[in-house]
Amino acid sequence: MTQEQKFQAKIDEEIRIEPKDWMPEAYRKTLIRQISQHAHSEIVGMLPEGNWITRAPSLRRKVALLAKVQDEAGHGLYLYSAAETLGAERDDMIEDLHSGKAKYSSIFNYPTLTWADIGAIGWLVDGAAIMNQVPLCRCSYGPYARAMVRVCKEESFHQRQGYEIMLTLAKGTEEQKAMAQDALNRWWWPSLMMFGPNDKDSKHTQQSMDWKIKRFTNDELRQRFVDMTVPQAEYLGLTVPDPDIKWNEEEGHYDFGKINWEEFWNVVKGNGPCNKQRIRARKKAYDDGAWVREAAMAYAEKRRKRSEAEAGIKVA
Ligand SMILES: [Fe+2]
Ligand SMILES: [Fe+2]
Repeated sequence: MTQEQKFQAKIDEEIRIEPKDWMPEAYRKTLIRQISQHAHSEIVGMLPEGNWITRAPSLRRKVALLAKVQDEAGHGLYLYSAAETLGAERDDMIEDLHSGKAKYSSIFNYPTLTWADIGAIGWLVDGAAIMNQVPLCRCSYGPYARAMVRVCKEESFHQRQGYEIMLTLAKGTEEQKAMAQDALNRWWWPSLMMFGPNDKDSKHTQQSMDWKIKRFTNDELRQRFVDMTVPQAEYLGLTVPDPDIKWNEEEGHYDFGKINWEEFWNVVKGNGPCNKQRIRARKKAYDDGAWVREAAMAYAEKRRKRSEAEAGIKVA
């Protein structure tokens, strides 16, 4: 058996791959790409919502939103660490984000125009994230799978806080209900796009399924999301902005309309409404934090010297 065959046999037997195990270069590269892009999405995802922390309508909403945005920072940090176990350097990953070489979830390139957007994001965007991430808890790569277990618990809190905001608005005044509907109109299609291209156009899917990085295809996950979300919209008394949504008795699924892939690729290429603004904000945060990194490095160096000096004394 070649090393590659042994590796695949482990995966087939559901044995986790750990950082020090042998792995094909392509497996390592695929995971670094996926995990770092996932980390970037968590970090960039803080921006559209962070924008509303100071304007949250009550102290309770503010506390919940603060906690949520802080969770996303934590998710980013777990994920950068998981990518580092594969030999990726944190500075290189950040550099690739800033230069536009690395992508992040395109949904965060849309603006948050009203408070209802915070509800819609929690409900739909975090809801879609859960659909994607629950199967990742069984990913073949150990550190990624383990990070996802905690991340998913926090995502389910995010989803509920979003849905509760929507519910409050939908049961409120006519104006509030209109705000909730408008937010659903703007976030629905980008949420469906979060699952990525259709299976026939997704070049990485088959290999990732064989390696058990992915457990379900983009279209399977998207369908599950639609099936879960349409009844939730009905409960809110809101209308999903797709005239083709229809329960298909034979299939046991909701049929839905065509996604505008031209818009998707356009945003991926950097031409969405907020791409430039998001990267500018990330770069500024990185530059403004330079003194923190320098201070941490200087402190680590001082401690190292001190412990060396103490060790020297003991030897003498
Ligand atoms: Fe997250
Ligand atoms: Fe989240």
